[in-house]
Amino acid sequence: AVDISSLRSSTGLITLDAGYKNTGSCESGITFLDGEKGILRYRGYAIEDLAEKADFLEVAFLLIFGELPTKAQLDKFYTDIKSKSVVDDDVRKIVDAFPKSAHPMGVLSSLTSALTAFNPSIVNVSSEQDMYNSVVKIMGKFPVLVAWALRKIQGLPLDYGDNSLGYVENVLKMMFKQPNQEYVQNPIIVNALDKLLILHADHEQNCSTSTVRIVGSSHAGLFASISAGISALWGPLHGGANQAVLEMLEAIQADGGDTKKYMAKAKDKNDPFRLMGFGHRVYKNFDPRAKIIKAAADEVLNDLGIEDPILDIAKGLEREALSDDYFVKRKLYPNVDFYSGIIYRAMGIPTDMFTVMFALGRLPGWIAQYREMRLRNEPIGRPRQLYIGQNHRVFKTVKNR
Ligand code: ACO
Repeated sequence: AVDISSLRSSTGLITLDAGYKNTGSCESGITFLDGEKGILRYRGYAIEDLAEKADFLEVAFLLIFGELPTKAQLDKFYTDIKSKSVVDDDVRKIVDAFPKSAHPMGVLSSLTSALTAFNPSIVNVSSEQDMYNSVVKIMGKFPVLVAWALRKIQGLPLDYGDNSLGYVENVLKMMFKQPNQEYVQNPIIVNALDKLLILHADHEQNCSTSTVRIVGSSHAGLFASISAGISALWGPLHGGANQAVLEMLEAIQADGGDTKKYMAKAKDKNDPFRLMGFGHRVYKNFDPRAKIIKAAADEVLNDLGIEDPILDIAKGLEREALSDDYFVKRKLYPNVDFYSGIIYRAMGIPTDMFTVMFALGRLPGWIAQYREMRLRNEPIGRPRQLYIGQNHRVFKTVKNR
């Protein structure tokens, strides 16, 4: 029986809401979403418009500072980002020290944390200028860390970017350029990655964003808070889902490619298996991002002429789930991660890197949420609990136990 007295505190009754399904943690003016209607807006702008008409850097500016940038503001923002994009050479030594088998999310979170040691001033965000400096530094250095995380697992030399390129083109070149070879940009890939990053850029108080806000609420610095957000994003029920999707597809293929068998497993309540990439905590009709990204996925697969049995299995599962009573009744539709995994595979990005790509997209959202939380001077986050442990017990010394 629940002892109701433990739910009372000096400030009133404590509510218990495991998983915070109905509990708001803050007021925010950044992202609006309506899970029933499938609406997602950043600062009031529809995600469909932003994905079609804006680029990732414009969206980053919008999320962080609240307005779409003028051309001059955007140019200055990018110039400032580029001027801060050098990562201390000693950080390379840390990368060298990691084993090649290290998961790139662990590498990314460690390196982001390590940046605090090389940029001690960014801990202090007491003025708007300090905040701006931290923002452009992390926006500049993060893509370098992302590329290094990939190059580490591929055994490639760690390079810096090419500041004559746009933000997304530069990321691609830093990731994929092979030694002694030209890197040729493919506009379809650039466009697909730009869209993917925009679609992932913010999603209000999800697990990683809440982590960034709660860590930052102790007045920990931006980089440290983002490093914590990366760790939260890593899990397979959150950002790690895009990796889990591909691993599931590979497992189905290795087992003979029988999608019906796995549909049955997903519906069996005695089987812990879930169809990864299906369902969403807040979108209970459809995920508006999934609609946009499905079109981009089709474009990438068609235009690049990719034939891949894994992608055929994905299409099969999508078809079957959309007409299956169990999935339809529970409103379990493919989410954004189902398609992002497919695009990343088609782009030649290793499965382990998928969640890192998500982190790259989510960076402006984390920054915007951190900045908003600090500007609003929010109190330290400190949830309460319902104690269900032992009552007071008599201590016995070790020899009497
Ligand atoms: N496969 C099979 N059944 C599922 C799935 C799934 N992927 N997702 C939910 N269900 C079932 C549950 O078993 C439950 O059934 P019941 O009512 O008979 O008990 C019902 O649907 C509701 O599920 P909940 O777990 O209560 O839904 P919740 O909102 O808590 O979870 C979540 C959402 C975690 C995303 C879940 O759907 C899931 O695990 N999906 C797979 C992982 C995934 O793709 N995560 C990515 C999320 S998107 C992102 O992070 C960007």
